[in-house]
Amino acid sequence: MSMTQVHPHIFVIMGATGNLTRLKLFPALYKLFEQGVLSGKCVILGVARKSDIDDRGFRKLAHDIIKNTNIKIDDAKFSNWCNECVFYQSLGKASLEDYKKLATRIDSIEREKNLPGNRVFYIALPPKAFSDSVTSLGESGLNRSSGWTRLVIEKPFGRDIVSAQKLNKLIHKYYDESQIYRIDHFLAKETVQNLLVFRFANTFFEHLWNRDHIEKVEIIVSEKLGIEGRANYYEQTGALRDMISNHLTQLLTLVAMDTPSGLDASAIRNEKVKVLQQVKPIQADNIVFGQYSSGKIDGKAVIGYKEEDGVPENSNTETYVALRLEVPNGRWNGVPFFLYTGKRMSRKLTEIRVHFHCAPGSIFQPFENTCILEPNVLFLTLQPDEGISLRFHIKSIGEPLTLTTKDLHFKYSEVFGSPPDAYETVLLDAITGDQTLFVHSDEVESAWRNYTSIFEMSIPLKYYPAGTDGPIEAKKLAEKL
Ligand code: BG6
Repeated sequence: MSMTQVHPHIFVIMGATGNLTRLKLFPALYKLFEQGVLSGKCVILGVARKSDIDDRGFRKLAHDIIKNTNIKIDDAKFSNWCNECVFYQSLGKASLEDYKKLATRIDSIEREKNLPGNRVFYIALPPKAFSDSVTSLGESGLNRSSGWTRLVIEKPFGRDIVSAQKLNKLIHKYYDESQIYRIDHFLAKETVQNLLVFRFANTFFEHLWNRDHIEKVEIIVSEKLGIEGRANYYEQTGALRDMISNHLTQLLTLVAMDTPSGLDASAIRNEKVKVLQQVKPIQADNIVFGQYSSGKIDGKAVIGYKEEDGVPENSNTETYVALRLEVPNGRWNGVPFFLYTGKRMSRKLTEIRVHFHCAPGSIFQPFENTCILEPNVLFLTLQPDEGISLRFHIKSIGEPLTLTTKDLHFKYSEVFGSPPDAYETVLLDAITGDQTLFVHSDEVESAWRNYTSIFEMSIPLKYYPAGTDGPIEAKKLAEKL
């Protein structure tokens, strides 16, 4: 969303030797440099506990990271950039002393590079390390500087309402909300941002966007991937915390919210929070939890969740969730929203499906309350092929009169080429200070208010073979209108 200027700054990655840095942050930062957006304006300081690497070692790591992606690199140019802009600081035991050393190092890099004291601290650490890191940054005085200081924090934000409130309270002790950037990278996907434009810039859908015309909404995030070696993280989260409480909830709010008073971060957030506050308490019979057992994906044998490295053999962690919820307000009363997410499914698909009511009483379905024709469906596809499709009916050529169903497509790639990775967008927004695509403390807490009670319910775990569409119980739930 960002259109503002990039000011010279230091970008500090807390957790610089971890997975997120390797998979997302470094590739995104490098691409922003390559495009010239950050060149001459951003110095990266990687920070981690490891003490056996130094600036050179970290630059080599950065090189290996980029080599492992599909980004083409010119080795000479890359090493120039690294020598100029990439540094490393070990945090040793992460004591307050170590944080003070970090502060001294930041000061010295800023002096050497003539930077005005603008700082981004990106907490790319496991959730259980968030609080200690925020506290130590604050206690060592790294929460303020002669320029601006921003804190970027990853999901999941808390484990439930109590821990989320506690984390918010702790962060607010050192930072005010305008300095905090809680990431939900789904918000930076082009199709998600386009939802606002699609809904509010086009006249033809907004007046249909309610209970009179919409029968149900489905939000689907299905992945072929398993847990990718993240047993430790996943055992503490599970699909409800990893996906539903944040990514799918954000999609829900953008689909369900009313027209915001403007495009600024707070106007949009206010409308999103209202949706979350209006969600009806979720009952156990509207929830399906699943876990994948062994199976086949694309013809290849895949092990079950319990056999994954690091997962206890009696693990009850859910890798699949289907949830039916309602937002009984004037716009949506009686319209079910179905949220589905699962790992090791038959295909990768992230999609919002808006199903319209069929048209009983029309000349093609003459009997009241019958639905002979398939209803119209609007598909907002986020992955893998970003775009929008509308399913509608047409007459087949010839006699007798027969109707057929076709989709009207718009594909991003055909018009604009491939969209940027979501992380490029969120990093640039954090750097330029645009909070629109970040999650406010109110949103986090309102979301947890809806989901926390689920952890106290006893939801039986259903098994589904890897490579399928999830437990059959989810299909039964889907029929509950
Ligand atoms: C992350 C989750 O936030 O999102 C992962 O922790 C998940 O478990 C990933 O695989 C999905 O993101 P994307 O952009 O690949 O759909």
